[in-house]
Formats: sequence, structure tokens, C-alpha cells
Amino acid sequence: MLRRTYALVDLEKIADNIRELKRCAGTGVMAVVKADAYGHGMVPVAKKALQCGVTSFAVATPDEAVGLRKAVPEGMILVLSPVEREAYPVLIEKNISLCAFEAWHLGEIAESAKAVGKKARVHIKLDTGMGRVGLRTDGEMAEVLKVLRENPETLEFEGLFTHFATADAADLSFARIQLSRFCHWREMVLAAGFSPVCHASNSAATMALGAAHFDLCRMGISMYGYMPSGEMEPGLAKLSPALSLWSYVSHVKTIAPGETVSYGRTFMAGRETRIATVPIGYADGYRRALSGRGEAVLAGKKVRVAGRVCMDQIMLDVTGLEVKPGDPVLLLGEQNGLSVTADDWAEKCGTISYEILTGLTARIPRVYVHEE
Ligand SMILES: Cc1ncc(COP(=O)(O)O)c(C=O)c1O
Repeated sequence: MLRRTYALVDLEKIADNIRELKRCAGTGVMAVVKADAYGHGMVPVAKKALQCGVTSFAVATPDEAVGLRKAVPEGMILVLSPVEREAYPVLIEKNISLCAFEAWHLGEIAESAKAVGKKARVHIKLDTGMGRVGLRTDGEMAEVLKVLRENPETLEFEGLFTHFATADAADLSFARIQLSRFCHWREMVLAAGFSPVCHASNSAATMALGAAHFDLCRMGISMYGYMPSGEMEPGLAKLSPALSLWSYVSHVKTIAPGETVSYGRTFMAGRETRIATVPIGYADGYRRALSGRGEAVLAGKKVRVAGRVCMDQIMLDVTGLEVKPGDPVLLLGEQNGLSVTADDWAEKCGTISYEILTGLTARIPRVYVHEE
């Protein structure tokens, strides 16, 4: 690794978070490792989860599923949303579970399974209120059950699932409505003689909605150490962020009052000011919205971004601090009681921690501790 700007992922923290979430769930857990495990690295995270006894995984795309199968030769891998028809054969061949919810869609999967000569594992998705994908009526459920009943050699009804829109809110009333719709369709499925693995909970419901746990809880953001939203009671689970983001001081200088820093000259020194340059920028996922607002930990203090974030560099106001080229800079993480979190970034950028973490680009090397 030639670059000293990197993300340090402590896999033991992920293991601790998994243990804590298993305690909250009281059922099986499914590790959501899509989007390169929310920026943490899909394969190392999956391997750690396997070591913790997790045997079910969720991804978003066929390529993620195929990549994960190399690290997870046995366990369940579910692609959470519908995929292109061209992807069916390879996914069926690799025992990857497909999301489906329409009769014609199941028909296509069954045809593909016949051609491959192997049963396709399917999880039927119910749209109980998320409004994204999934079946929405009893009639649609009846049609789906008919296709499943008629194709026992090609379709294995492995799972039944839904996704909550507001389980991370203080008011869980809509989540409870979604839950009752899920229970209704689950009853239809059981009455038809099927017994799929039922899963509804995301991180938020895993922590806050016990009645929604069923057979498996799908944990995403919480496994990486973050609460799904600020509306949730922090005491629901003891989580710690697994990723910290480091860089270093590449240059330090003193500027005189009236001198400016970066594009647009938005930062003008009101006094003699020490400026440290750090080689990270928006092309790394250090968001431009942090211009003039982002904070970092340097020389035992919190310091602030001066002026606009550039594509590859930022400048920090380090006035009054002993700072020299080569000094480490903590951009995300915790050191000696001082912390900068993805939630802090998110608040300043008008987004959520999910987008911050998945937005750290491939240009940032990921370095792992506690891989074994
Ligand atoms: C269908 C589905 N299940 C589970 C998750 C995990 O959610 P969270 O990261 O909030 O735990 C996601 C994330 O987007 C999802 O789309």
C-alpha cells in the first residue's frame, strides 16, 4: 500500500456487534453485506461473520452474490431485490437465493432452473408498505402460491420476507401495520402447506420490534456499529463503529491575515493562521459538503476544515497546535475520547451514515485488524 490515506476496519468490533445483535434478535441473523459491506469490504466482513456462526448473507446484485460465494461456499446468500433474467443460470448454479414476487417472474425462474438442471431457491418478497418491490394483494399471493405448487421440481420456496419503511422511527405505528400485513400473508403461506424461513427485521426492527423477529433478522448498519437513526434509543444495543479513516499531514504553513484557502476563497484568515494540508478529498468520499464544517482529530485536538474540500486534498485550521508533516490525522473514528462519526458527517451533509460509509470510494485502501 503506497498511500497513507486508508480506512482501518477492526473486524473484532464487527464480531462484537454481531454478538450483541444476536442477543437482541434471539433468533438467527443474516449479515447484510451489500455495497461492499457498507464500505467495509464484503469478503473480510463475511469471513468474520462466518467465524461468529452467521450462515446467512444478503447482497443487492448478482455480481456481489457471485463474489461472495467464493468466501461463503455453503451458507445462504440472498439477492434482496429482483435481478436481470440473464443472471438466473449462474445464480441457480451457485445455489444463490433469488427474490421473486410475481407469477410470471417465478415462471421464468422455473424455466431457467429446468435448463440448469437444478432447483432455484426463492424468497418471496411482500410489499407490506415500503412501496418498493413485492407482492401487494391476496390475489397476487394466491397466484404466486399456485406457481410454487405447480413447480416443485424447479422451485424451492426457501424464504418469505418484507422490509420496514419506518422501523427506525420513534413512532412504530406504521411498522406495526406492516408487521400485521406480513403476518396475514405468512398465515396464507403456512395454510398452503409451505414453511419458508420468515424474515422481516432490519437493524432497527432487530433492536426495537421484537414481534418482527421470526426466523432471521437482517442486520446491516448495526453490524458496522451504527444505530439506524437518531430517533432510536441509543441504549437498545451496545454497538461500536468498526471503521476509522486515517490520513496524514502532507504540508504545513502559516498564512497572514487576509490570505485565503482553497477554491472560491471561502476561507479568509482573520489572523495569522496555521494551515495543514491532508491528502484526502471528495474523490475518496470525503464529502464536499464538509467544506468549512468537517472536523478531524489531530495532535490531540479537534480541528476544522478550512475552505472548500478539493477532489484530492483538504486543508485544516491547526492554529495554535504543534503540527508537522507526517502527523496522523483521524477523519472518522475515536481517539483518546475525541470522536468523529459517520453520523457527524451525515448531519453536516444532510444525509445518513449509510450514504457516508458506502460513499467511501475504492481509492481508499481498506486495512484490516483482527482478521483471524
Ligand atoms: C431489504 C433489506 N433488508 C435489510 C437491510 C438492512 O438494513 P439496515 O442496514 O438498516 O439494517 C436493507 C438495507 O438497505 C434492505 O434493503
